[in-house]
Amino acid sequence: MSQNPEPNRIIAIDGPAASGKSTLAQRLAKHLGYLYFDTGVMYRAATLAGLRAGIPPGDEKRITKLAFELSIDVRPPSKADGRPYDVIVNGEDVTWEIRSEAVDANVSRVSAYAGVRQAMTVIQREIGRRGKVVMVGRDIGTVVFPEADLKLYLDATVEARAERRYKERMARGEQVEYEEVLDSMRARDHIDSSRDLAPLQPAEDAVILDSTHLGVEETLERALGLVQA
Ligand code: DC
Repeated sequence: MSQNPEPNRIIAIDGPAASGKSTLAQRLAKHLGYLYFDTGVMYRAATLAGLRAGIPPGDEKRITKLAFELSIDVRPPSKADGRPYDVIVNGEDVTWEIRSEAVDANVSRVSAYAGVRQAMTVIQREIGRRGKVVMVGRDIGTVVFPEADLKLYLDATVEARAERRYKERMARGEQVEYEEVLDSMRARDHIDSSRDLAPLQPAEDAVILDSTHLGVEETLERALGLVQA
């Protein structure tokens, strides 16, 4: 049980890629006046920095060293181009670069490294302890904040999630094939759920919501009902 005098100060939302976690978390945070914090951004930033530095994604030692040295900042959006926030890595705006196919293809591998997770978890706990936060990821309810006041696990079929990601990419003007997105999503699901450390899985006390056939508004309403319950 939480020691917090005010209920629901930390809301953990976990689930696979494109399950609708970020949209739900943003809406929920806005509604409650909480901070929205997407922890996937940090693993993506470390992956991008590694790729740019020419470090092979399989080089755990160098990637881990880089992760500890990286300065990652998430700030309010500076442009009205659909971004929910700015992601600044070592002073550079990489908001869209961290969503590239190259990062998608390598982020699961990088995020399975123990040292990388350690570096990122420390920062996530620092931010979360300030309270009033909706934190999104894969292991927030199980590892980062097992004491979270409310834990949600958002799921959807891999086909539905791949279709969402495909449409997002096409809307941004990228040329992608649905089958490729689906294959890449399956591969990431596998790595994220089968890794030894902090694998993607619902916490025992998480409430599981399936967004395959639920609209954004319905999902939000259910989540708000749980916050108020
Ligand atoms: O949510 P996302 O697609 O932006 O996450 C990118 C990758 O980061 C994903 O493959 C798994 C990893 N991740 C993680 O391991 N733990 C988290 N708390 C958040 C993301």
